[in-house]
Amino acid sequence: MNTMQLATVTATLCLLSWAHAAETAGKSTLDNLQAAFAGESNAQSKYTAFAVKADEEGYKSVAALFRATAMSEGIHAKKHAAAIKKLGAEAQAVIAKADVKSTKENLEAALAGETHEKDSMYPEFIKVATAEKNKQAVRSFQGAMAAEVEHAKLYAQALAELDAWKPAGKEFVVCQICGYTASLNNTPLKCPVCAAPKEKFTPVK
Ligand code: FE2
Ligand code: FE2
Ligand code: FE2
Repeated sequence: MNTMQLATVTATLCLLSWAHAAETAGKSTLDNLQAAFAGESNAQSKYTAFAVKADEEGYKSVAALFRATAMSEGIHAKKHAAAIKKLGAEAQAVIAKADVKSTKENLEAALAGETHEKDSMYPEFIKVATAEKNKQAVRSFQGAMAAEVEHAKLYAQALAELDAWKPAGKEFVVCQICGYTASLNNTPLKCPVCAAPKEKFTPVK
């Protein structure tokens, strides 16, 4: 890399970190809870639409996965709404019409969304909520982040072996307390995130 290229890379990195700082600067936990509530509510609506598309295209097991993740995002939204209420505010979200493409593209978009949430958004929100000593918000953000890690893994797996996800047969479970999601054959004895017993897991197919 020559000096010119190095200067360009450095300038780009500075700009990116400035943009990220500007995006998150001064945001309170209440702002972040509202953003997370809106994100989870939109994800729930989007995955529900992606499940319909996957069924239409004959990807029956992908449809089941989207139904499970939609259920999980709905639980995250509810938990964030409870933390918002505790702060004396009302949860608010504008639900956009889902941008539905092919199932392969929908999986790619879903994987990108989960990756942003687990790697950038939730870690930042947890940092702010910890500084504000808001334990309920910290728990709500951590619970969601742990599930997003599993959602990302399941989407990546589906993308890597898309044809094998055409027939129905893959089933999933969702913890009704925190939204943790796993394959049915990997159902844990108790939830690894919230410690709820196995009975709190709902099967989805
Ligand atoms: Fe979520
Ligand atoms: Fe998710
Ligand atoms: Fe759980």
